[in-house]
Amino acid sequence: MRLRLRNALAVGAVGVLTAGLAVVVTSTPASAASTLGASAQQSGRYFGTAISASRLGDSQYTSIANAEFNMITAENEMKINATEPNRGQFNFQAADRVYNWAVQNGKRVRGHTLAWHSQQPSWMEQTSGSSLRQAMIDHINGVMGYYRGKIYAWDVVNEAFADGNSGGRRDSNLQRTGNDWIEVAFRTARAADPAAKLCYNDYNIDNWTWAKTQGVYNMVRDFKQRGVPIDCVGLQAHFNSGSPYNSNFRTTISSFAALGVDVQITELDIQGASATTYAAVVNDCLAVARCTGITVWGVRDQDSWRSGDTPLLFSGGNKKPAYTAVLNALNAAPTTGPTPTVTPSPNPTPTPTVSPGTSFRLRNEGAGRCVDSPNSASANGTLLQIYDCHTNPNQMFAYSSGRQLQTLGKCLDSPTGAGSGTRVQLWDCHGNSNQQWVFNSNGTVTSAANNLCLAVGGTGNSSTVTVASCNGSANQRWTRA
Ligand code: XIL
Repeated sequence: MRLRLRNALAVGAVGVLTAGLAVVVTSTPASAASTLGASAQQSGRYFGTAISASRLGDSQYTSIANAEFNMITAENEMKINATEPNRGQFNFQAADRVYNWAVQNGKRVRGHTLAWHSQQPSWMEQTSGSSLRQAMIDHINGVMGYYRGKIYAWDVVNEAFADGNSGGRRDSNLQRTGNDWIEVAFRTARAADPAAKLCYNDYNIDNWTWAKTQGVYNMVRDFKQRGVPIDCVGLQAHFNSGSPYNSNFRTTISSFAALGVDVQITELDIQGASATTYAAVVNDCLAVARCTGITVWGVRDQDSWRSGDTPLLFSGGNKKPAYTAVLNALNAAPTTGPTPTVTPSPNPTPTPTVSPGTSFRLRNEGAGRCVDSPNSASANGTLLQIYDCHTNPNQMFAYSSGRQLQTLGKCLDSPTGAGSGTRVQLWDCHGNSNQQWVFNSNGTVTSAANNLCLAVGGTGNSSTVTVASCNGSANQRWTRA
């Protein structure tokens, strides 16, 4: 009996091998992986979750999130009210807590979101017209500049279309700045971070027959035809009784993909978490090559913005039936090549591009002028300025192995207790962090004492040199000349 079985297996194996010669181009089924991220990775996709900074102290939460997901969206921390609480004053503390947790655990980050009618800071809610248009542009530049090169995809514009049967735009202060606000946002975004994929993200655009879906589809088609930069569409996929999953979801995904954009399921949750519906959603994504990843909107039911709907994959520390359905669906997918992955690093990123011992001028990109000690003064407390670049010693800085910037026998010094806007000075060199400067890959130079960015207060001769909250704009970017 045992022998017969062996023979049968051997014959079967030969049969498979022979047949295999004719079908070598067919992709092989994925071998089983035991986490959502790893199983999605087998077909070149990611599986992500929203993360809330306030829960990063909960070890059950972080251990599930770390084990299962390989793409992270900040649930609220990169929204406009979080990153620009006052006009022109950026704050990335909460955003960086999520960002740094993600990249320190080897995960990529989706940026969410830059232009949206909701969760605006009150100053923006009260702004309109050309002033608001400029504020939107400045916001995109500030946030994308800060994270330049570090974000996989940005939801540049969120939820700009109206619910119901109109298929048109939602009324909002942004919409009232002019119908072109969305394309202006995308063009601004492309220039601010050419490496990031730029997405339009919305809810209730999952059902192909709905007017809102068609409205967004027509906008994306128009953008592609006219060369407005757009790389992806985010389908939020918040499914509930008012907006249920429909099997035409796959048509929606493939129709958007056929326009030449990636499609991502960005905020998936399903009221009641039916295992069948979760598997259907995953299979719809797997059926379309350009559906590049799925993100669920939270880790455990208790973390959900709709916790009463128990819409997620974990309950407390336990995997729900929907989890197993999702994992099995991902593991059944045909394998494709691996996703090209970036290796993100925490913010700010010290880059060892500047060798100790080299000397250079610090030329501000926005002003085109160099850091300068007025009249070659070198007394302690001399406040620095920018001036037309020249080759005299009062603009030459030597970068020491201790990360000091030395000129005229003194060191560039961010005064103790400096806040945003404090002028930098010359002081006797000592080893402390307020005389240590880090050159970042995005062109900014940060003080090791306070992570503030070296900045200029204007562009003309004698404009001040300060430390300021980093926003990555040209008045905070420096070339070594
Ligand atoms: C939600 C968050 O989950 C909540 O914590 C917050 O109070 C409101 O916003 N569409 C989006 C997300 O694009 O940003 C929203 O997130 C959910 C709907």
